[in-house]
Amino acid sequence: MSNGHKPVLLDEVIEALNIRADGFYIDATFGRGGHSREIIKRLGPKGRLLAFDKDPDAVMSAGHDLVQDDRFEIIKGSFTMLMQHVKRHEVEAQVAGVLFDFGVSSPQLDDAQRGFSFRFAAPLDMRMNPTEGQSVAEWLNTASESDIANVIYEYGEERASRRIAKAIVNARIEDPVTTTTQLAELVRQVAPSRKHDIHPATKTFQALRIFINRELDEIKEVLPQAVDVLCPGGRLAAISFHSLEDRIVKRFMRDEATPKQYPSELPIMPDNDSVRLKLVGKKIRAGKEELTQNPRARSATLRVAERR
Ligand SMILES: C[S@@+](CC[C@H](N)C(=O)[O-])C[C@H]1O[C@@H](n2cnc3c(N)ncnc32)[C@H](O)[C@@H]1O
Repeated sequence: MSNGHKPVLLDEVIEALNIRADGFYIDATFGRGGHSREIIKRLGPKGRLLAFDKDPDAVMSAGHDLVQDDRFEIIKGSFTMLMQHVKRHEVEAQVAGVLFDFGVSSPQLDDAQRGFSFRFAAPLDMRMNPTEGQSVAEWLNTASESDIANVIYEYGEERASRRIAKAIVNARIEDPVTTTTQLAELVRQVAPSRKHDIHPATKTFQALRIFINRELDEIKEVLPQAVDVLCPGGRLAAISFHSLEDRIVKRFMRDEATPKQYPSELPIMPDNDSVRLKLVGKKIRAGKEELTQNPRARSATLRVAERR
């Protein structure tokens, strides 16, 4: 996540990607291009950077310097189209590095109109691409009580999920839930927070955002594609912002770095050819200096692996 000036774990990401001047790189979550700009600085005339973002505002922010650079291309769309675009560039199994910086960007959170935050009164939208699919308000006013409860529990790890879902369904009989403030107030009434510094609706907002953008499903979909496109020695770097994302990345990397085991009664040796990744170091967290400048970096975890 960029704080408008410096993207999260910037030095660590650049070191992790081990950039080759003539390499083909992918920034799957362009945001405001903080990481992309540092990557492209390190590329020579033959290097390439392909970026993705599903948020039209993020794509628009790329600016002349990048858009007019022949080495750069940005795709407005989901990073799950990664393989399709790598095939178009004819660089399958030749990509030198793929970066993911998952979740929402600071500009998305700070733009009141996008409806991501209970800090601002706004229509309850939360779509990263507001031109596609349903908004949170549309979904909340038609979904069943049990579906709402399950989403809030699964993606928000919110223990009061059933109470919150009931309150939403009761409230919408009279008055559809269409704004951030309406939802925040409903949650506060039925599930007040015990911690003073955390708003009671934090987990509910996180859950609805993850659900409406299919965030975890898309991460699961794209990680195998990223490994498919990397060349031997190519690097995969992924930054997560909460434990649900990090668990997916951690398990995926561990599975790809472990030989497939067969039941011990079968006379088959562990399959070393199935090992596609080597883990590079342990998980990386932001240091003190970065945290002072950008407190949002406190929840960031970077994991790095190398294609074998
Ligand atoms: C944390 S920000 C990235 C910040 C960026 N690294 C920078 O330095 O400015 C995440 C970005 O990824 C985008 N994004 C999230 N999920 C996506 C997906 N499935 N496909 C494409 N873009 C996605 C969001 O719209 C957001 O702009």
